[in-house]
Amino acid sequence: MKDLKKLLEQMTLEEKIGQLGQYNANLFIQSGADITGPLTQAGLSEEDLKHVGSILNFKNAEEVCTIQKRHLEQDRNKIPMCFMMDVIHGYRTIYPIPLALGCSFDTDMVAECTRMASKEAAASGIQVTFTPMVDYVRDARWGRVMESCGEEPLLNGLMGAAQIKAFQGDGIDKPDNLATCVKHFAAYGGAEAGRDYNTVELSEHTLREFYLPAYKACIDAGVDMLMPSFNVLNGVPAVANSWLMKKILKEEWGADVLVISDYNAVGELLKHGIVDNMKDAAKLAFDNGCHIEMCSSGYIKYLKELIEEGVFTEAQVDEAVMKVLELKDRLGLFEDPYHGASPEKEAAACLTPENRALVRKAAAECAVLLKNDGILPFSEDVKKVAVIGPFADNHAIKGFWACQGRDEETVTVKEGIEAAIPNAEVVAIKGCGDQWDDLDKSGFDRAVMAAKEADIVVLCLGEPQNYSGEGNSRGDIDLPGVQNELAEEVMKANPNTAAVIFTGRPLAITRLSKTVPAILNMWFPGTEGGSAAADLLFGKMNPSGKLSMTFPQAVGQCPIYYNHLMTGRPKAPEMDLIHKGYASNYIGCGNLPLYSFGHGLSYSNFVYEDLTLSQDAFTADEKVTVKITIHNDSDVKGKETVMLYMRDLVASNARPIQQLIAFEKVEFEAGERKTIEFTIEEPMLRFWNNEHKFVSEPGLFHISTGYADHLVHTKELVLK
Ligand code: GLC
Repeated sequence: MKDLKKLLEQMTLEEKIGQLGQYNANLFIQSGADITGPLTQAGLSEEDLKHVGSILNFKNAEEVCTIQKRHLEQDRNKIPMCFMMDVIHGYRTIYPIPLALGCSFDTDMVAECTRMASKEAAASGIQVTFTPMVDYVRDARWGRVMESCGEEPLLNGLMGAAQIKAFQGDGIDKPDNLATCVKHFAAYGGAEAGRDYNTVELSEHTLREFYLPAYKACIDAGVDMLMPSFNVLNGVPAVANSWLMKKILKEEWGADVLVISDYNAVGELLKHGIVDNMKDAAKLAFDNGCHIEMCSSGYIKYLKELIEEGVFTEAQVDEAVMKVLELKDRLGLFEDPYHGASPEKEAAACLTPENRALVRKAAAECAVLLKNDGILPFSEDVKKVAVIGPFADNHAIKGFWACQGRDEETVTVKEGIEAAIPNAEVVAIKGCGDQWDDLDKSGFDRAVMAAKEADIVVLCLGEPQNYSGEGNSRGDIDLPGVQNELAEEVMKANPNTAAVIFTGRPLAITRLSKTVPAILNMWFPGTEGGSAAADLLFGKMNPSGKLSMTFPQAVGQCPIYYNHLMTGRPKAPEMDLIHKGYASNYIGCGNLPLYSFGHGLSYSNFVYEDLTLSQDAFTADEKVTVKITIHNDSDVKGKETVMLYMRDLVASNARPIQQLIAFEKVEFEAGERKTIEFTIEEPMLRFWNNEHKFVSEPGLFHISTGYADHLVHTKELVLK
């Protein structure tokens, strides 16, 4: 290990402050006149670049090695640069978007995919990934729901921790492993009206119970870095929010992670109107514990001045710089500045047949069978298949935040079906576009003709992959354009039709759900999406995904989520959809979602036979054993995510009508019966009370299984 204290002592103040800056690779690859514009835009001089500590948004190992070599040749202290990027759901071989990963309820499978991504990314020069994103989400209008594992804090936290451990592997100094960064702290997913970057106003109770736990789970899992979010939280942007950055992160959680701003988030304090100049922005961010400033130049420009004015001491800058040096040292960069990366290693590691096989399995595990009136799985003996819709033969299914993944390397649904049933004739007709303003129906006739002539029809519909992800919110979340009309015309032509949807968010597909007998949600499945879709459509794989986020009936129901409060006037089930009396209800669509959290069908038939408790009352120091017996009453082997829910009937705060407290994904042979055991302990029943403490309160609880809105075998349990 390097003598960092000695190294720090020999550094000038400019060299130290340079370590606290992170900028795009293009500033270091290009030179001369090419970088004048970008440099000016970044607010930097060529001299500033010499001391920069880390880089993002580079292309490959060759760029990383070139930049690192050039830098070390000129750097007096021989301090290696650190290379960081967003490896969110794959580097080059892409697996399903994180919202889909959440639907697998399988942290082991997610860890396996993450290990693969880590090897591909590390070979390609990445040393730190800005992952996991664990923002809690409830509003499908927000485009970055695709990047989260959904509306359940427990699931988000477990998935985040699994990714951290998988990227870190047996040590971040090892060549196949990456350091990690949890983001976006905090509550970025609570953006008002689901509009990206918008204001977040949340009570402490809601923050504590829903929006903060997953970040804490990642801190506890040993994440290496943390990224504050763009959003204002209750009036103050996160990167300058001392309640978040000092009280919660430092004082309460004792977190000592390296903090990096989001992209120009320090600069955006001026836009927020928190400060009116860059120097004050730098002062606020640094004072709130932001160590590295990403893509704005407040620190490089003003930290020295702030020290000279006595606002900060050099010792405080040393503390921040030491955290950067420690990360580089833990990465082993002083011994190997390339962290084992090379163009040759990148070529050998990426897009291998093994990696394709892995992401194909993952895509099948993450898919959710939303509806099936019995038409699926299709027989492999069909002779003629019509694949119709904008996603019929569409390579753009890798999803947003797909790092170095390439559309042209994905397998389309048509290609997947052709490979699955090589003796069949497969015809692909687009029929219509996928954009919101694609209203042209001139392609319907060919689509209807193809449907008429086919044995079966696979309708491939959805929203474009750039309708979700950063900056991509939607005010309407049904299928864009005239896809619903296409589905209705095709169904008239051939009722042997199943729909496959591609989406980065829950869609309000009520109309489609009334049109077709089956809907398979592939989300954005990644490189092998078409192969996985075919595996599921023809029964090679049995669907096992369960929704990690609620599908609304209508966009007007957003935000809609399973763990909501009862309210004083719940919509009683017997109330019809015409507005009668006063209850919390939407005229016309009612309150219920189209498909709730935890919903997902299988080709097996899982019968929930019983739930028993080891006792019907317990004290806080006791444990209760729950046994759930399930029978796979079918001749199809399959997996079922068994969920355990609780409800606190009476407490000093109104409590959600249900909360997931445990789950386990279990495989059943055909006809197999299994009893799955869970343990209930008092901390699982705690909530944030009005005295600002996490407590449980004695009283009656309901313990159930099944899934949200469809709970079964509810038993009473008393906490004494
Ligand atoms: C983006 C995102 C953040 C990402 C960063 C670097 O704006 O908000 O998630 O890690 O910039 O790409």
